[in-house]
Amino acid sequence: MDAMRDKVLKLAKEKNAIILAHYYQTPDIQEIADFKGDSLALAQYAAETDADIILFAGVHFMGETAKILNPKRKVLIPDMNAGCSLAESCPKEDFAKFKAQYPDHIVISYINCSAEIKTLSDVICTSGNAVQIVESYPKDQKIIFAPDKNLGRYINEVTGREMVLWDGSCEVHDILSSEKIMQMKVDNPDAILIAHPECPQPVLILADFVGSTTAMLNYTKNSDAKKFIVATETGILHQMQKDSPDKEFLIVPADESCSCNDCAYMKLNTMEKIYLALKNEKPEIILPEQIMKDAKAPLVRMLELST
Ligand code: 13P
Ligand code: SF4
Repeated sequence: MDAMRDKVLKLAKEKNAIILAHYYQTPDIQEIADFKGDSLALAQYAAETDADIILFAGVHFMGETAKILNPKRKVLIPDMNAGCSLAESCPKEDFAKFKAQYPDHIVISYINCSAEIKTLSDVICTSGNAVQIVESYPKDQKIIFAPDKNLGRYINEVTGREMVLWDGSCEVHDILSSEKIMQMKVDNPDAILIAHPECPQPVLILADFVGSTTAMLNYTKNSDAKKFIVATETGILHQMQKDSPDKEFLIVPADESCSCNDCAYMKLNTMEKIYLALKNEKPEIILPEQIMKDAKAPLVRMLELST
Protein backbone atom coordinates (compact mmCIF):
# COMPACT_ATOMS: atom_id res chain seq x y z
CA MET A 1 0.00 0.00 0.00
CA ASP A 2 2.82 2.38 0.89
CA ALA A 3 4.52 1.44 -2.37
CA MET A 4 1.39 2.47 -4.26
CA ARG A 5 1.23 5.74 -2.34
CA ASP A 6 4.86 6.47 -3.24
CA LYS A 7 4.18 5.69 -6.90
CA VAL A 8 1.24 8.11 -6.89
CA LEU A 9 3.24 10.91 -5.31
CA LYS A 10 6.18 10.40 -7.72
CA LEU A 11 3.92 10.36 -10.77
CA ALA A 12 1.97 13.41 -9.60
CA LYS A 13 5.23 15.32 -9.26
CA GLU A 14 6.52 14.20 -12.67
CA LYS A 15 3.29 15.25 -14.37
CA ASN A 16 2.84 18.51 -12.45
CA ALA A 17 -0.47 17.19 -11.14
CA ILE A 18 -2.17 18.23 -7.92
CA ILE A 19 -4.35 15.86 -5.95
CA LEU A 20 -7.50 17.33 -4.42
CA ALA A 21 -9.51 15.26 -1.94
CA HIS A 22 -12.87 15.73 -0.28
CA TYR A 23 -13.08 14.89 3.42
CA TYR A 24 -15.29 11.90 2.54
CA GLN A 25 -12.34 10.11 0.93
CA THR A 26 -10.63 7.28 2.79
CA PRO A 27 -7.83 8.39 5.16
CA ASP A 28 -5.03 7.09 2.90
CA ILE A 29 -6.29 9.30 0.05
CA GLN A 30 -6.79 12.31 2.32
CA GLU A 31 -3.21 11.92 3.50
CA ILE A 32 -1.64 12.11 0.01
CA ALA A 33 -3.74 15.07 -1.13
CA ASP A 34 -2.06 18.39 -1.89
CA PHE A 35 -5.25 19.98 -0.69
CA LYS A 36 -8.32 18.61 1.05
CA GLY A 37 -11.50 20.43 1.82
CA ASP A 38 -15.25 20.61 1.65
CA SER A 39 -17.04 21.32 -1.62
CA LEU A 40 -16.58 25.10 -1.37
CA ALA A 41 -12.88 25.07 -0.50
CA LEU A 42 -12.16 22.51 -3.22
CA ALA A 43 -13.97 24.57 -5.86
CA GLN A 44 -12.08 27.69 -4.77
CA TYR A 45 -8.76 25.86 -4.89
CA ALA A 46 -9.48 24.22 -8.25
CA ALA A 47 -10.36 27.59 -9.76
CA GLU A 48 -6.94 29.01 -8.90
CA THR A 49 -4.43 26.22 -9.48
CA ASP A 50 -1.92 26.40 -12.35
CA ALA A 51 -1.01 22.69 -12.21
CA ASP A 52 -1.20 20.89 -15.56
CA ILE A 53 -3.43 18.17 -14.14
CA ILE A 54 -6.07 18.23 -11.40
CA LEU A 55 -6.65 14.74 -10.01
CA PHE A 56 -9.94 15.13 -8.17
CA ALA A 57 -10.52 12.49 -5.50
CA GLY A 58 -14.19 13.17 -4.96
CA VAL A 59 -17.25 12.58 -7.11
CA HIS A 60 -18.12 13.42 -10.71
CA PHE A 61 -19.85 16.78 -10.15
CA MET A 62 -16.76 17.98 -8.26
CA GLY A 63 -14.54 17.11 -11.20
CA GLU A 64 -16.97 18.88 -13.54
CA THR A 65 -16.91 21.96 -11.33
CA ALA A 66 -13.10 22.03 -11.39
CA LYS A 67 -13.09 21.72 -15.20
CA ILE A 68 -15.69 24.47 -15.65
CA LEU A 69 -13.85 26.85 -13.33
CA ASN A 70 -10.39 26.11 -14.72
CA PRO A 71 -10.87 24.76 -18.27
CA LYS A 72 -7.19 24.89 -19.29
CA ARG A 73 -6.33 22.14 -16.79
CA LYS A 74 -6.74 18.45 -17.51
CA VAL A 75 -9.16 17.18 -14.86
CA LEU A 76 -9.00 13.49 -13.98
CA ILE A 77 -11.18 11.50 -11.61
CA PRO A 78 -10.21 8.05 -10.35
CA ASP A 79 -13.54 6.38 -11.24
CA MET A 80 -16.12 7.65 -13.75
CA ASN A 81 -18.84 5.80 -11.79
CA ALA A 82 -18.31 7.98 -8.73
CA GLY A 83 -21.59 9.85 -9.13
CA CYS A 84 -23.89 11.34 -6.51
CA SER A 85 -27.46 10.36 -5.67
CA LEU A 86 -28.34 14.00 -5.10
CA ALA A 87 -27.08 15.09 -8.52
CA GLU A 88 -28.86 12.12 -10.10
CA SER A 89 -32.13 13.03 -8.39
CA CYS A 90 -32.38 16.07 -10.65
CA PRO A 91 -32.44 15.19 -14.37
CA LYS A 92 -32.15 18.16 -16.74
CA GLU A 93 -35.39 17.68 -18.74
CA ASP A 94 -37.54 17.25 -15.61
CA PHE A 95 -35.92 20.21 -13.93
CA ALA A 96 -36.38 22.41 -17.01
CA LYS A 97 -40.14 21.62 -16.94
CA PHE A 98 -40.26 22.33 -13.19
CA LYS A 99 -38.45 25.63 -13.67
CA ALA A 100 -40.86 26.65 -16.46
CA GLN A 101 -43.73 26.54 -13.93
CA TYR A 102 -42.09 29.40 -12.00
CA PRO A 103 -41.09 31.97 -14.63
CA ASP A 104 -40.63 34.80 -12.11
CA HIS A 105 -38.27 32.78 -9.87
CA ILE A 106 -34.49 32.71 -9.96
CA VAL A 107 -32.72 29.36 -9.49
CA ILE A 108 -30.19 28.73 -6.74
CA SER A 109 -28.64 25.29 -7.11
CA TYR A 110 -26.58 23.34 -4.65
CA ILE A 111 -23.21 22.48 -6.17
CA ASN A 112 -24.15 18.77 -5.91
CA CYS A 113 -25.82 18.80 -9.33
CA SER A 114 -24.80 18.10 -12.92
CA ALA A 115 -23.21 20.70 -15.21
CA GLU A 116 -26.52 20.74 -17.15
CA ILE A 117 -28.46 21.79 -14.05
CA LYS A 118 -25.84 24.47 -13.41
CA THR A 119 -26.59 25.89 -16.87
CA LEU A 120 -30.21 26.35 -15.76
CA SER A 121 -29.18 28.12 -12.54
CA ASP A 122 -28.60 31.77 -11.67
CA VAL A 123 -26.16 31.03 -8.88
CA ILE A 124 -24.64 27.97 -7.22
CA CYS A 125 -24.11 27.43 -3.51
CA THR A 126 -22.52 24.83 -1.27
CA SER A 127 -23.56 23.86 2.23
CA GLY A 128 -20.79 26.19 3.45
CA ASN A 129 -22.23 29.35 1.89
CA ALA A 130 -25.88 28.52 1.16
CA VAL A 131 -27.39 30.87 3.75
CA GLN A 132 -25.06 33.70 2.68
CA ILE A 133 -25.92 33.22 -1.02
CA VAL A 134 -29.67 33.13 -0.38
CA GLU A 135 -29.45 36.16 1.91
CA SER A 136 -27.64 38.12 -0.81
CA TYR A 137 -31.01 38.39 -2.59
CA PRO A 138 -33.80 40.71 -1.43
CA LYS A 139 -36.37 39.14 0.91
CA ASP A 140 -39.10 39.32 -1.73
CA GLN A 141 -37.00 37.61 -4.42
CA LYS A 142 -38.77 34.44 -5.56
CA ILE A 143 -36.38 31.49 -5.57
CA ILE A 144 -36.32 27.87 -6.71
CA PHE A 145 -33.80 25.85 -4.71
CA ALA A 146 -32.48 22.58 -6.16
CA PRO A 147 -31.76 19.74 -5.85
CA ASP A 148 -31.58 19.04 -2.07
CA LYS A 149 -34.96 19.38 -0.34
CA ASN A 150 -33.39 18.93 3.11
CA LEU A 151 -30.84 21.70 2.69
CA GLY A 152 -33.50 23.88 1.03
CA ARG A 153 -35.96 23.36 3.88
CA TYR A 154 -33.23 24.14 6.39
CA ILE A 155 -32.32 27.40 4.60
CA ASN A 156 -36.01 28.35 4.43
CA GLU A 157 -36.19 27.87 8.20
CA VAL A 158 -33.00 29.83 8.95
CA THR A 159 -33.76 32.71 6.59
CA GLY A 160 -37.56 32.84 6.87
CA ARG A 161 -37.86 32.43 3.08
CA GLU A 162 -40.31 30.29 1.16
CA MET A 163 -38.11 28.99 -1.61
CA VAL A 164 -39.73 26.44 -3.91
CA LEU A 165 -37.86 23.16 -3.41
CA TRP A 166 -36.92 20.44 -5.87
CA ASP A 167 -37.59 17.03 -4.33
CA GLY A 168 -34.06 15.58 -4.25
CA SER A 169 -31.90 14.20 -1.47
CA CYS A 170 -28.58 12.60 -0.61
CA GLU A 171 -28.99 8.87 -0.06
CA VAL A 172 -26.37 8.94 2.71
CA HIS A 173 -27.75 11.76 4.85
CA ASP A 174 -31.45 11.27 4.09
CA ILE A 175 -31.60 7.86 5.77
CA LEU A 176 -30.08 8.88 9.11
CA SER A 177 -32.75 8.09 11.64
CA SER A 178 -33.81 10.33 14.50
CA GLU A 179 -34.79 7.22 16.54
CA LYS A 180 -31.25 5.89 16.35
CA ILE A 181 -29.86 9.30 17.28
CA MET A 182 -32.19 9.63 20.26
CA GLN A 183 -30.96 6.29 21.53
CA MET A 184 -27.34 7.45 21.07
CA LYS A 185 -28.14 10.62 23.01
CA VAL A 186 -29.66 8.59 25.85
CA ASP A 187 -26.60 6.32 25.91
CA ASN A 188 -24.21 9.30 25.74
CA PRO A 189 -25.81 12.15 27.71
CA ASP A 190 -22.56 14.12 27.66
CA ALA A 191 -22.27 14.11 23.86
CA ILE A 192 -23.00 17.05 21.54
CA LEU A 193 -24.96 16.22 18.38
CA ILE A 194 -23.64 17.82 15.19
CA ALA A 195 -25.33 17.34 11.82
CA HIS A 196 -24.89 18.20 8.14
CA PRO A 197 -27.82 20.19 6.66
CA GLU A 198 -28.37 17.44 4.06
CA CYS A 199 -29.96 15.47 6.95
CA PRO A 200 -33.76 15.38 7.20
CA GLN A 201 -35.66 17.74 9.52
CA PRO A 202 -36.25 15.24 12.39
CA VAL A 203 -32.45 14.86 12.69
CA LEU A 204 -31.72 18.59 12.42
CA ILE A 205 -34.29 19.38 15.13
CA LEU A 206 -32.28 17.25 17.56
CA ALA A 207 -28.90 18.75 16.59
CA ASP A 208 -26.94 21.09 18.85
CA PHE A 209 -25.06 22.34 15.80
CA VAL A 210 -25.87 22.21 12.07
CA GLY A 211 -23.16 23.00 9.55
CA SER A 212 -21.20 22.08 6.45
CA THR A 213 -18.28 19.67 6.57
CA THR A 214 -15.78 22.45 7.31
CA ALA A 215 -18.13 24.11 9.80
CA MET A 216 -18.46 20.83 11.71
CA LEU A 217 -14.68 20.36 11.71
CA ASN A 218 -14.18 23.86 13.06
CA TYR A 219 -16.92 23.40 15.63
CA THR A 220 -15.44 20.22 17.10
CA LYS A 221 -11.92 21.66 17.06
CA ASN A 222 -12.95 24.78 18.97
CA SER A 223 -15.51 23.26 21.34
CA ASP A 224 -14.73 22.46 24.99
CA ALA A 225 -16.92 19.34 24.76
CA LYS A 226 -15.16 15.98 24.74
CA LYS A 227 -17.73 13.77 22.99
CA PHE A 228 -19.71 14.25 19.76
CA ILE A 229 -22.40 12.33 17.91
CA VAL A 230 -21.70 13.00 14.24
CA ALA A 231 -24.57 12.88 11.73
CA THR A 232 -22.82 12.88 8.37
CA GLU A 233 -20.52 10.77 6.22
CA THR A 234 -17.87 8.67 7.98
CA GLY A 235 -14.88 10.13 6.12
CA ILE A 236 -15.05 13.34 8.16
CA LEU A 237 -13.92 11.45 11.27
CA HIS A 238 -10.34 11.19 10.02
CA GLN A 239 -9.74 14.94 10.08
CA MET A 240 -11.85 15.41 13.22
CA GLN A 241 -9.83 12.91 15.15
CA LYS A 242 -6.57 14.38 13.81
CA ASP A 243 -7.60 17.86 14.91
CA SER A 244 -8.78 16.67 18.34
CA PRO A 245 -7.02 13.46 19.40
CA ASP A 246 -8.36 13.81 22.94
CA LYS A 247 -12.03 13.90 21.87
CA GLU A 248 -14.43 11.06 21.09
CA PHE A 249 -16.53 10.95 17.92
CA LEU A 250 -19.49 8.62 17.45
CA ILE A 251 -20.78 8.36 13.88
CA VAL A 252 -24.52 7.89 13.42
CA PRO A 253 -24.83 4.57 11.56
CA ALA A 254 -26.97 4.32 8.44
CA ASP A 255 -28.98 1.41 9.86
CA GLU A 256 -28.88 -1.33 12.48
CA SER A 257 -26.83 -3.66 10.29
CA CYS A 258 -23.83 -1.39 9.90
CA SER A 259 -21.58 0.69 12.10
CA CYS A 260 -20.63 3.16 9.40
CA ASN A 261 -22.27 5.65 7.11
CA ASP A 262 -20.22 5.67 3.94
CA CYS A 263 -21.02 7.34 0.63
CA ALA A 264 -20.66 4.44 -1.80
CA TYR A 265 -19.73 6.84 -4.61
CA MET A 266 -16.96 8.59 -2.69
CA LYS A 267 -15.61 5.23 -1.58
CA LEU A 268 -15.23 3.96 -5.17
CA ASN A 269 -11.94 5.87 -5.29
CA THR A 270 -8.83 3.93 -4.31
CA MET A 271 -5.09 4.61 -4.29
CA GLU A 272 -4.64 2.21 -7.19
CA LYS A 273 -7.31 3.96 -9.28
CA ILE A 274 -5.62 7.29 -8.57
CA TYR A 275 -2.33 5.84 -9.79
CA LEU A 276 -3.92 4.47 -12.97
CA ALA A 277 -5.75 7.73 -13.65
CA LEU A 278 -2.50 9.68 -13.40
CA LYS A 279 -0.61 7.13 -15.51
CA ASN A 280 -3.21 6.85 -18.29
CA GLU A 281 -4.47 10.42 -17.93
CA LYS A 282 -8.03 9.14 -17.86
CA PRO A 283 -10.87 9.04 -16.94
CA GLU A 284 -10.86 12.69 -17.96
CA ILE A 285 -13.70 15.16 -17.44
CA ILE A 286 -14.65 16.51 -20.86
CA LEU A 287 -17.65 18.77 -21.33
CA PRO A 288 -19.17 20.49 -24.38
CA GLU A 289 -17.95 24.10 -24.79
CA GLN A 290 -21.44 25.61 -24.50
CA ILE A 291 -22.22 23.73 -21.27
CA MET A 292 -18.88 24.86 -19.82
CA LYS A 293 -19.65 28.46 -20.71
CA ASP A 294 -23.24 28.44 -19.41
CA ALA A 295 -22.37 26.56 -16.21
CA LYS A 296 -19.44 28.84 -15.44
CA ALA A 297 -21.45 32.03 -14.90
CA PRO A 298 -23.45 30.79 -11.84
CA LEU A 299 -20.30 29.20 -10.37
CA VAL A 300 -18.30 32.40 -10.73
CA ARG A 301 -21.21 34.29 -9.18
CA MET A 302 -21.01 31.95 -6.19
CA LEU A 303 -17.26 32.52 -5.83
CA GLU A 304 -17.76 36.29 -6.02
CA LEU A 305 -20.47 36.18 -3.35
CA SER A 306 -18.32 33.93 -1.11
CA THR A 307 -15.26 36.15 -0.73
P1 13P B 1 -19.89 19.79 1.83
O1 13P B 1 -18.53 19.37 1.42
O2 13P B 1 -20.29 21.09 1.20
O3 13P B 1 -20.12 19.80 3.30
O4 13P B 1 -20.92 18.72 1.19
C1 13P B 1 -21.03 17.44 1.64
C2 13P B 1 -21.32 16.49 0.57
O5 13P B 1 -22.25 15.75 0.60
C3 13P B 1 -20.41 16.45 -0.55
O6 13P B 1 -20.89 15.57 -1.46
FE1 SF4 C 1 -23.72 12.82 -3.15
FE2 SF4 C 1 -24.49 12.31 -0.67
FE3 SF4 C 1 -22.37 11.08 -1.62
FE4 SF4 C 1 -22.26 13.71 -1.08
S1 SF4 C 1 -22.55 12.04 0.39
S2 SF4 C 1 -21.49 12.67 -2.92
S3 SF4 C 1 -24.35 14.33 -1.59
S4 SF4 C 1 -24.48 10.85 -2.38
